[in-house]
Amino acid sequence: MNNLKILVTGGAGFIGSHFVKLALKKSEVRQVINLDKLTYAGNPATLKPVEEDPKYQFIKGDIADASLIDTVFKNGIDMVVNFAAETHVDRSIQEAGDFIKTDIQGVWVLLEACRRYGIKKFIQISTDEVYGSIAEGSFTETAPLMPSNPYSASKAGGDRLAYSYWKTYQLPVVVTRCSNNYGPYQYPEKLIPLFVTNALENKKLPLYGDGLNRRDWIHVLDHCEAVWFLTEKGENGETYNIAGRNELTNLVLTRMILDEFNLDPSMIQPVKDRPGHDRRYAIDDSRLRKLGWTSQIPFEKGLKETLQWYKENTAWWEPIKHGEFKQYYQQQYGAIS
Ligand SMILES: NC(=O)c1ccc[n+]([C@@H]2O[C@H](COP(=O)([O-])OP(=O)(O)OC[C@H]3O[C@@H](n4cnc5c(N)ncnc54)[C@H](O)[C@@H]3O)[C@@H](O)[C@H]2O)c1
Repeated sequence: MNNLKILVTGGAGFIGSHFVKLALKKSEVRQVINLDKLTYAGNPATLKPVEEDPKYQFIKGDIADASLIDTVFKNGIDMVVNFAAETHVDRSIQEAGDFIKTDIQGVWVLLEACRRYGIKKFIQISTDEVYGSIAEGSFTETAPLMPSNPYSASKAGGDRLAYSYWKTYQLPVVVTRCSNNYGPYQYPEKLIPLFVTNALENKKLPLYGDGLNRRDWIHVLDHCEAVWFLTEKGENGETYNIAGRNELTNLVLTRMILDEFNLDPSMIQPVKDRPGHDRRYAIDDSRLRKLGWTSQIPFEKGLKETLQWYKENTAWWEPIKHGEFKQYYQQQYGAIS
C-alpha cells in the first residue's frame, strides 16, 4: 500500500506513541492522524519530538464519539490502527465502566465508520490476556478465549467484534494479540515502570502474592514493528499472536530490576494478590514468525536500556507520579512507601 493516510487511535499512550513515531518514518505514509482522548494515560509530552512533523496531526477525542469519528472519516482514511483502550487490569477491577465504553463500544463506533466509508485495513490491537491463564504450553490463535478480569473481558469483546465485521461485512480486519510490553514512556502504574520509578525514589516495590505469576515480555519497538509488518502481511480475518519469547516470573523480573540498581531484595514489599490474578500467560506466535517476522531486541539489553531511560527521564515520569497517580496508588496499595 502507498500514499497512506493512517488513523492511529490512542497514540498518546505508551505503545501507540511508539507506533506513531514508527509510522511517520515510513515513506509509504502520507499522513498520520493521532486521535486520543488524553485520559490519565495519554501524555502529549511523549509526542513532542514529532509535533512539528508536517505528516502528523493530533485530534483530541473519544473513539466512542460517533459524530467526531464520522467527521474524521469524512476526510478519507486508508487504514486504522486501534490502540485506544483503557488498559490497566487493577483499575478495571476498581471500576469497569470506562473499559466497556472504550474497549467494546469504542471499537464498534470505529468499525461502523470503516464500514460506511470503506478502508483498506483495520488493525485491532488486542492482547494475549483474552486467552486467560494457561498452566503449561501456550495458546495458539484458535484457542478459546477465557478472559478473567473486566479489562481482558472488554478486550475480548472488541477483539471478536472486529472479527465479526470481517466475517459479516468483509471489512479488512486483522487482530493482533501481543504479550506484555516494556520500554520507555510507559505509564508508571504498570509493573516495570512502577518498580523502576519506585526504586529510583527509594520506595518499596509492591509485589503481588507470591510473585510467581509468569508473563512473557516484549520490547515495545518489537511490538510496533510486528504490527507494521502485519499491516502489510497480515491476512484479512486472521488473528496473530505476537510474543517476545521471554517468560519470567514477576519475582525474577523484580530481582533483575533491583540488581540493576544494586538494591537489596528487602526492597520488595509483598502485597495482597490481585483478585482473580491470572497465573501464567503464554502464547505461540509461530503463525506470525512463519510469515518472516522476528523480534530484534534481546530482553536483557532492552531492560537495561529501559531502566536507564527512566533514570535519565525523570522530567517525564515525576509529574505523573505526583498527579492523579498518587490517589490511585493510595487506593491500590495503601501506605506503602
Ligand atoms: N501494554 C501492554 O503490555 C499491552 C500488551 C498487549 C496489548 N496491549 C494493547 O495495546 C493498546 C495500547 O496499550 P498501552 O499500554 O499503550 O496503553 P496506555 O494506557 O498507555 O494508552 C492508552 C491510550 O489510549 C487513550 N484512550 C483511552 N480511551 C480512549 C478513548 N475512548 N478514545 C481515544 N483514546 C483513548 C489514552 O488516552 C492513552 O493515550 C491497548 O489496546 C492495549 O489493550 C497492551
